Parts: sequence; C-alpha cells; structure tokens
Amino acid sequence: MTVDTLRVAVINGPNLNLLGVREPAIYGSESLQQIEERLAGIASEVKVTLSFFQSNSEGALVDEVQRLRGTADGAIINAGAYSHSSIALRDAFDAVAVPFVEVHLSNVHAREPERHRLILAGRAVGVICGLGSYGYEVALRGLARHLRAKKP
Ligand code: DQA
Repeated sequence: MTVDTLRVAVINGPNLNLLGVREPAIYGSESLQQIEERLAGIASEVKVTLSFFQSNSEGALVDEVQRLRGTADGAIINAGAYSHSSIALRDAFDAVAVPFVEVHLSNVHAREPERHRLILAGRAVGVICGLGSYGYEVALRGLARHLRAKKP
C-alpha cells in the first residue's frame, strides 16, 4: 500500500451553495463552507489534497469534470438536481475515466419518484445518500481507500 498523497476534487452542483439556509429539514443546517472545512480537516489524516468547486451551471460542471483528467486521482460529486438528468455529466466522467463517489445529503430514494433515477450512479465507485453532510466524510474515506487499493 502506497502512502503517496492523493488528489481528490470535491464538486457540488446547483443550489448546494445555499446549504444551511435551503430547506434545512431536508438538507441540514451546515453551510457548504462548513462541510468543506470539515473535509479539509480529514484530508490530511487520509493523505489527500482536496480541491473544491461548486456551480449552478451544468456546462461549468462538465468543464470541471473535464479538468480532472491528469489533475485528480478521484472525485466526490453531489450534482444536485443534475444527478437526475445530466447525461452530459455522465459523458464527461466517461471521457476522463476518473473514479468518483456520488453523494446526496438526503435519501433521494425516499423522496419524489423523479429523484430516484440517478444518471451518474452506474459509473460511480459508490453512492452515499441519506446521511446528511456526514456522507461527504464517508465518501472521502471510502474513495481514498478505494484508490489506494487500486495502486500498485
Ligand atoms: C441532493 C438531492 C437532489 O435531488 C436535489 O436536487 C439536490 C440535493 C441531495 O444532496 O440530497 O439539490 O443532491
């Protein structure tokens, strides 16, 4: 097992910039910045360098996924509502072939039927939903473990 530092990109999609004020009964009271700060605290423990990106625009998210080729070993993505619709984002992950974990704060399978279909999920290393912001921590630990297991 290698101890090399891994590069992981944390990508959040539409309306996740409003975490903390947006429907707190569903998404919790923590802001995205607080979640990112907590992840940054865990990153050194699991020997990962993190980058953070959030956009409300599908094209900007596709650009960010394309940027991962050669710059990241893995990614954590909560694509928000685009998770249920974006073939473009799935195509981008297929193009760059960067392993990723999909996160949802809420349990999308316990919500409206239109949230049950997850376009990216079939390509993900794993999908975590319903654990609130803790899901990002689980994703980071799980992705780091997965990436290290794959390395020679
Ligand atoms: C979400 C679930 C999506 O259905 C929703 O559109 C979001 C947030 C979640 O984290 O639970 O924006 O991805």
